[in-house]
Amino acid sequence: MAPELKAPDPAGGGISLAGQRIVLIGASTGIGLATAKAALAADARVVIAGRSVERLDRAWNALGRKAEAFRLDATEEHSMAVFLARMEAFDHLAVFVPTAPSAKVRSQLGAFLETPPEAFEAVVRNKFLPQLYAARHGAPRIAPGGSLLFVTGQAHRKSLPGYAASAAANGATEALVRALAVELAPVRVNAIAPGLVETDILRTAPEAFRRATAEKVARHPVRRWGTPEETADGILLLMANRFVTGTVLELDGGMKLT
Ligand SMILES: NC(=O)c1ccc[n+]([C@@H]2O[C@H](COP(=O)([O-])OP(=O)(O)OC[C@H]3O[C@@H](n4cnc5c(N)ncnc54)[C@H](OP(=O)(O)O)[C@@H]3O)[C@@H](O)[C@H]2O)c1
Repeated sequence: MAPELKAPDPAGGGISLAGQRIVLIGASTGIGLATAKAALAADARVVIAGRSVERLDRAWNALGRKAEAFRLDATEEHSMAVFLARMEAFDHLAVFVPTAPSAKVRSQLGAFLETPPEAFEAVVRNKFLPQLYAARHGAPRIAPGGSLLFVTGQAHRKSLPGYAASAAANGATEALVRALAVELAPVRVNAIAPGLVETDILRTAPEAFRRATAEKVARHPVRRWGTPEETADGILLLMANRFVTGTVLELDGGMKLT
């Protein structure tokens, strides 16, 4: 029997997340942590997960100890399955695991023909598989009308030399959005495609990379990096608006236009 959906709010508002349970994987720093903060401010109940206990602990304190925090390596399918199976039912699930699994892999990425195949594969595995595993093991636990949220980027939308591995990982993830939005309905499936957002990924990058990126950002229509908070706002919109599915929201400051 088809699951019953709650009728939309007759007042038309209906974009509240109050009381909803939101699971954020890879949310001890950056965009995920900003999403956790915004979700708590919207009176949602929040679960965060990540690998480092120290980072989780810092995040838990930064969230006023109001979220639940769990250790999880999202690249391990069995760990993801067990983590989600033990979780009280939830409304929304998002994954924020980045492309490069380590500084070593990050340092190996560059021109396509010079990138070692194992580094290329590591990026695709690290970024794509956690989102695939979350969909596979999380979708059956999401309340009708709730949502899965993938995070991609801009490498596959704008031709960026040196970013072929990220393009492959992000392109594969976005391809899942439209396929799964139909197959997993009434669970909704959306993604955000962030531009350049000032998080640890950029803060810890080599100085030459930061300088080159700053020059690019200066040419973007908004002339600055995005903030994790702006990105979180877009994510909560996709979660809260129950009429949105199969959509990729570009939060890129117009990056693709220049
Ligand atoms: N910042 C940007 O400019 C930008 C642009 C486009 C797309 N994005 C995408 O946005 C998402 C978030 O990026 P961010 O900038 O917020 O990165 P970030 O600050 O480095 O946060 C990444 C989070 O993921 C966790 N994580 C990493 N590997 C994990 C694993 N295997 N299992 C579970 N958790 C893991 C990290 O904690 P632990 O290391 O402790 O696990 C951390 O909490 C990523 O998908 C990234 O590709 C970012």
